[in-house]
Amino acid sequence: MPSVPNRFNGLGVGFAPYLVPPPEDVVRWTVGEPGFDTPRPVVDAAIDALNRGETHYSRGPGSIELCTKVSEQINRLWGLQSIPETVMITPGAKQALLYSMMITMEPGDELLIPAPAWPTYDGQAGLLGIQPVFTATDENFHPDLEDMRKSITEKTRCILINSPNNPTGAVYTPNEIQGIVDIAVEHDLWIISDEIYARLVWSDWPHVSPASLPYGAERTLVVTGFSKSFAMTGCRLGVLTGPKEAMTAAFACQANANSHVPTFLMPAAEIALNQDNYVEEFCEQYLKTRTLLCDAIDEIPGLRLRSPEGAFYAFIDITGTGMSDIEFADKALEEARVQLIPGSLIQGGAGHVRVSYATEESQIIEGIQRLKNWLG
Ligand SMILES: Cc1ncc(COP(=O)(O)O)c(C=O)c1O
Repeated sequence: MPSVPNRFNGLGVGFAPYLVPPPEDVVRWTVGEPGFDTPRPVVDAAIDALNRGETHYSRGPGSIELCTKVSEQINRLWGLQSIPETVMITPGAKQALLYSMMITMEPGDELLIPAPAWPTYDGQAGLLGIQPVFTATDENFHPDLEDMRKSITEKTRCILINSPNNPTGAVYTPNEIQGIVDIAVEHDLWIISDEIYARLVWSDWPHVSPASLPYGAERTLVVTGFSKSFAMTGCRLGVLTGPKEAMTAAFACQANANSHVPTFLMPAAEIALNQDNYVEEFCEQYLKTRTLLCDAIDEIPGLRLRSPEGAFYAFIDITGTGMSDIEFADKALEEARVQLIPGSLIQGGAGHVRVSYATEESQIIEGIQRLKNWLG
């Protein structure tokens, strides 16, 4: 058999081994997706589009109606200056991230990523022969800008940030985002800004996109999407926007990779953008489960949690239990029947476990009780 290129040897698959559906009696705190159904008006719009026969090829970057609506919304919410012609609808934010790396870097280039970071970044860089360089964060998982500066070499081309952050829940402050833009300007770097959780912010400071700051827009690719805010993970609808030249390259990636997202989902995505009431309802529920979790975790021997500032993840320090995070996650599943993700699956995450609190209150309450009984 011909050989598979070496770069696939040991290429990670993120959290996949710990996302396997567990037996029914297990409390599942692992899945990074909203526990809600997709809003009914969105589902109905997709069905209507199917009934109208919208099942044929369409405009590559996405219907101009949807790109216009997305552009208006991201400009209004985050002060971006996008135009419909520089917005592309992608098969999930994941694909938007992959395109962002493809159009900003060559194989061998270095990509700075504050760690802990979502493991897909590492995997995608590996697919493209790009070298991820992880930079430090502080005790609240906010970026250490000095370390970021020190990590720059002649091969550095890009900084990737994700705020609000998966897995830590950190929301970078406006000053930190400004600092990252300053570094990028100083060293003529691209910024890839994964803002998929931007509508889920619990901090006193707002979400700030580097693309909204002076000199930021010309070097930032903003990635967002419909999965997390609108409970549409399976629809696979992401968004990429950035400077015109970069987007021309991104359009070429999509034209050659998958043409466009499903035609009948685009009118449904348009309807999703009118569903602020659902987004607000989902956020209220996340705030409830977040409070339940935060209030309880510190009372459990050996566990410590800094209040997550955004997204729907809590990154719990388990070092006080004397176990490694892998041992903790494996034993929690076996003995307490609670499924968690061990932090050492990701760079900089050792000693922690990730919990998704995008689940029902009853599951949070039951999981806490089980951990209390187990560790108490
Ligand atoms: C930080 C981050 N970015 C991007 C994505 C991908 O989102 P999508 O479902 O739109 O591909 C995820 C999904 O878990 C995520 O956590």
